[in-house]
Amino acid sequence: MPRPRRPKPDDPDREFGVPFPGRVLDESRWTQTALKAMPEEGRLDWKGLFGRDAPVVLDLGCGNGRFLIGSAITRKTHDHLGTDILPVVIRYARKRGNQRGLANLRFAVLGAHELLERFVEPYSVAEIHCYHPQPYYDPAQVHRRLITPAFLALVHRSLAPGGLFVVQTDNPGYWRYIREVTKVFFDFHERIGRWADSPKGRTRREIVALKQGLPVFRGHGTAKPDLGEDDALKLADALPPPVFDADRRLRELDEL
Ligand SMILES: C[S@@+](CC[C@H](N)C(=O)[O-])C[C@H]1O[C@@H](n2cnc3c(N)ncnc32)[C@H](O)[C@@H]1O
Repeated sequence: MPRPRRPKPDDPDREFGVPFPGRVLDESRWTQTALKAMPEEGRLDWKGLFGRDAPVVLDLGCGNGRFLIGSAITRKTHDHLGTDILPVVIRYARKRGNQRGLANLRFAVLGAHELLERFVEPYSVAEIHCYHPQPYYDPAQVHRRLITPAFLALVHRSLAPGGLFVVQTDNPGYWRYIREVTKVFFDFHERIGRWADSPKGRTRREIVALKQGLPVFRGHGTAKPDLGEDDALKLADALPPPVFDADRRLRELDEL
């Protein structure tokens, strides 16, 4: 595989030449997209958080929020929450969300597994998106890989009937694993070709991968309707953990 070239990021509202969705509004119209605290007890109250009843969209490991901000702009009918464990990327996401005056969007620093396990009411979410989960190349970090059978059982539990799970990676080893385990919990379809709404990439990492000429693997599925929580957990227990060769050469893209 050729050594990836290092594209130059440019002005703050373009990444690698691709415009960031939306535009910066006059300061008088900025909003506050920070979700500063999780409930001390119990689950998130979506209606209380967004002030209305609307379908909720989650982006887990949302990075700088590019996908979610675009979705919040084009789908005013939906409410959006993105989380990531890295405070710095959430700061970027919040700043751009605030500057675009979005009231249907929140960002929080929080692990994806913890969010679903502790804070998301079962069967309460319309869509869960997970773009380019970290493959963790270092053997000592492999246990941190997000897409595990137990995590997928939680995604299944969080989705309302008919709810949608979207997952994408540029890591071939991770994809082979994801494709096999995801179909146990979801009616899952691999998507061939780019997103019609964002042919240059829905997320920062996707843009970087596409610029390097790397394949991007995508799929989506609806939660299997007849699978209860206990059965999903039993299935999860019997499935293998995410052990695969993550191909360290792809690691360089993380530095971009
Ligand atoms: C390769 S980046 C992808 C970011 C973004 N989704 C994109 O496609 O540009 C992976 C992101 O997952 C975050 N991450 C890693 N483990 C996580 C976890 N357990 N929960 C939430 N985010 C996590 C990392 O901090 C990083 O921002």
